[in-house]
Amino acid sequence: MILLLINLISCVSATFVVNVTETSYQAEENHNITLEWTFTTKPDMSITSVNTLCSLFINHKHFVLFHLHDGIEVSESQNQQFLGRVQFDKYVLREGRIRLQMSRLRTEDSGLYLCDVKTNDGSSSDRCRLNISAAAVNREPQRPTVSPEPESQGWTGLYVGLGLTAAAVLLVTLCFALRRCFTKSTD
Ligand SMILES: *[C@@H]1O[C@H](CO)[C@@H](O)[C@H](O)[C@H]1NC(C)=O
Ligand SMILES: *[C@@H]1O[C@H](CO)[C@@H](O)[C@H](O)[C@H]1NC(C)=O
Ligand SMILES: *[C@@H]1O[C@H](CO)[C@@H](O)[C@H](O)[C@H]1NC(C)=O
Repeated sequence: MILLLINLISCVSATFVVNVTETSYQAEENHNITLEWTFTTKPDMSITSVNTLCSLFINHKHFVLFHLHDGIEVSESQNQQFLGRVQFDKYVLREGRIRLQMSRLRTEDSGLYLCDVKTNDGSSSDRCRLNISAAAVNREPQRPTVSPEPESQGWTGLYVGLGLTAAAVLLVTLCFALRRCFTKSTD
């Protein structure tokens, strides 16, 4: 009975798992992001036993983001789209972490990212979703700032002038009328 239990525990602990740290990322164009997957390790694990293939999946097509063969990065496998934009942190690999920094994000980087990890202990995979929205400046075409045209300024001036003249004429007329009124009453 105890033997069976020990067997069961060792079997469970031997299960190889890959976890993604974030299942969904939301970012803006031109920004940077760090994708991370963790996998089961053993103290005696050799880095040269780690094989990884991380790809972007869009409509049944896949684009290789990162490829690790026997612990060595295979940059030739990487899709042109990601060229020079992915930085792999090799120092955390021993801890069972696949950490990839993606820089200068593009809207076409949006999609499902799946990382497959295989070591001597087994293989597994996990995925996350990336949604890159267009940068605010690109979303709206810039409109040239419209300055008031001199012509319209001229018209405004003319209207103001006419208004003032009319007011003055009205005031003078009123004055005369009042004076006539007063002089009449004093007569
Ligand atoms: C993105 O990463 C690059 C290089 O890793 C760095 O030069 C740049 O400042 C980063 N940009 C942002 C917005 O963090
Ligand atoms: C994976 O996730 C499970 C559940 O959150 C956790 O118990 C396990 O330790 C994780 N394993 C690794 C290798 O990150
Ligand atoms: C991606 O982000 C945009 C803007 O935030 C949002 O409108 C859209 O629904 C998101 N798409 C997905 C698939 O999550």
